[in-house]
Amino acid sequence: MKSQLAKIKKEFKKAVGEVNDTLKLNEVYQRFFSRKSGEMTDIMKNLKSLSKDAQKEFGKLANEVKKELEDVYGKKKDELQSKAWDKIAQEEKIDVTQPKLPKKRKGHLHPMTIVHNDLEDIFTSMGFMVLDGPELESDYYNFEALNIPETHPARDSMDTFFIKNYPNWCMRTHTSPVQVRAMQKYGAPLRTVVTGRCFRNESVDASHEHTFYQMEGLVVDKEISVAYLIGTMKELLQGVFKREVEVRLRPGYFPFVEPGFELDMKCLVCGGEGCGACKHSGWVETLPCGLVHPHVIEAGGLDSKEWTGFAFGLGSMRLCMQKYGIEDIRHLHGGNLNFLEQF
Ligand code: FA5
Repeated sequence: MKSQLAKIKKEFKKAVGEVNDTLKLNEVYQRFFSRKSGEMTDIMKNLKSLSKDAQKEFGKLANEVKKELEDVYGKKKDELQSKAWDKIAQEEKIDVTQPKLPKKRKGHLHPMTIVHNDLEDIFTSMGFMVLDGPELESDYYNFEALNIPETHPARDSMDTFFIKNYPNWCMRTHTSPVQVRAMQKYGAPLRTVVTGRCFRNESVDASHEHTFYQMEGLVVDKEISVAYLIGTMKELLQGVFKREVEVRLRPGYFPFVEPGFELDMKCLVCGGEGCGACKHSGWVETLPCGLVHPHVIEAGGLDSKEWTGFAFGLGSMRLCMQKYGIEDIRHLHGGNLNFLEQF
């Protein structure tokens, strides 16, 4: 039995010395110490079959060997485990000193996006299709096709940004160019809305931006009258504000409509008292509109004796200001989180 214990000791130490991971170490341990068939376990079991004197002699020795081997095993296990943690720490670069990361901040829709989504929902529910148009527009679609020839004074009210060496192109001053594009592409009858950015070379103040949004609306059909136009405008405002809004209709001049109107709404920011948002008049110019001029219908490739229409050009930034009580248009493009987080 002495020689058996010496052999086990030698083999165990050799096997433990050769392993490089805890899985293999466990296999070695099981080979010698498994309850059922471990080589060391068998020796301990066999002690019972020896005489009392032999049990005394070999029992002490076997327990010493067992303890020695378990110490060897324990030491190796600690060594392998700390190596494994080092490796993980190196590979994953765990920095235990790093302070807790702040909670991820969730974004949300910009108030202008909310207003445009609402508007598009209102109009698609009335059978309008939503179209898009180019921001860099030709002089023809932005002015000429809309009955604003080169020398027309109406061009003065819409100065914009031109492209160097390309005099026939400009940043569109309104979304109205899409009227003619849409008629040329889809013909009649037609119901469409277009939301998009417009550009004007003008001084910025509480109600004017050089880059702003409009929503264009166009209906082309037979025997369209002002009654259709007013009905649609009321539906629009009620859909956005979810309540009656006080409006006034006054004559307005736009070369591409005849007759033309300005539909103003009572300022909801100040309740009509006068503030920066309404240029201190109590009323906000929101919805210029009118019946489509026959020249524009013809530019769209349609017969103006057969087809009629109405159009409007909603200033959607001003509408957004009214909806949320924003007193200065510059907040909307300012990128200030303190402002944006309110919505
Ligand atoms: C037009 O742009 C016409 N195209 C509207 C139209 C379409 C009339 C179809 C008839 C038929 P106006 O220049 O008034 O019209 O601009 C329309 C709206 O855009 C204004 O009522 C205003 O709400 C908004 N708007 C105009 N300029 C600015 C600006 N610099 N900053 C912010 N909003 C503006």
